[in-house]
Amino acid sequence: MDGRHSATARAHSNIALIKYWGKRDDTLNIPAVGSISITLDALATDTHVEFRPNLGARQTDEFWLNGALTQSPRVLGLLDLVRERAGTTQGAVVTSSNDFLTGAGLASSASGFAALALAASTAAGLALNARELSILARRGSGSAARSIFGGYVEMHAGSRDDGADAYAEPILSPDHWPLSVVVAITAAGPKAISSTHGMAGSRATSPFFPAWVDTSEQNLAEMRAAIAGHDLAQLGELTEYSCLKLHALMLTSRPALIYWNAGTIAAMGTVRELRAQGVAVYFTIDAGPQVKALCAPADAALVAHALAATPGVLQTRMSALGRGAHLVAA
Ligand code: DP6
Repeated sequence: MDGRHSATARAHSNIALIKYWGKRDDTLNIPAVGSISITLDALATDTHVEFRPNLGARQTDEFWLNGALTQSPRVLGLLDLVRERAGTTQGAVVTSSNDFLTGAGLASSASGFAALALAASTAAGLALNARELSILARRGSGSAARSIFGGYVEMHAGSRDDGADAYAEPILSPDHWPLSVVVAITAAGPKAISSTHGMAGSRATSPFFPAWVDTSEQNLAEMRAAIAGHDLAQLGELTEYSCLKLHALMLTSRPALIYWNAGTIAAMGTVRELRAQGVAVYFTIDAGPQVKALCAPADAALVAHALAATPGVLQTRMSALGRGAHLVAA
């Protein structure tokens, strides 16, 4: 391994408009369906990776998350992939911090593995292109493949067994169509069941899973058209549809995955009420109880105000669309 031994990268979280849920290969982490997301600027992970020439691999790797030494087989797995590619056996020290709640359904694994893929590959002296980085980030977490890019992003499920065509690509720059997201936080604790675990259960037990896979291409095509046409009503309707379809899949899994709480339902009600009053705002919810409301930037303050006044909403965060993963000065 030549060249630099350390690097720091920043990546932002993303929220899927058309959801990913279910894998066609667990080992290579290849998704069963494609997905479309927006990258958010307000939720970021900074990750520093340093390879230590005098340390042997793996057993000496250290992963510090938000100041605490943390055990993470997935982080070690990603470091192994980077080491293999760079032809090194050096151990690494990874220091990562999130500027938002970790593991509360705010997609910290997306920003986390996107930042790790860029920082670790750069520190190891590899110069991966964006597609290679997306594939590498996917091995850590499917949604992380999308956080390599900014703005509107599509993740392809691909059809190859080796996952070489399962990567994300940018479809529209955030500057071409600004959008705001208001996150309504309804519970601060970590989620009960991880996405990885939950989606394996859905694939194995939900009778809706085959229909979920069969209808995904049509939803992706409709969303691509809504984004190309800058059509917020169409984008919003499809976003709520994909979200509720995902939660129908979760509810029909055995055991059932119920990620909502009373505040989640109240916040959905607020969004629909605002819409009845003529405000173009739409919700989406992932594997957690937080509600993300999408609207035009001009309506964001009003939406945040209404959500903050909703029973069960503990706090709100506002975000614009963000850029892709990038290196930063240490
Ligand atoms: C509900 O990307 O966290 O947020 O690939 O197993 O790490 P793994 O899953 P992950 O799943 C995200 C699921 C989701 C929908 C989405 O982001 O598309």
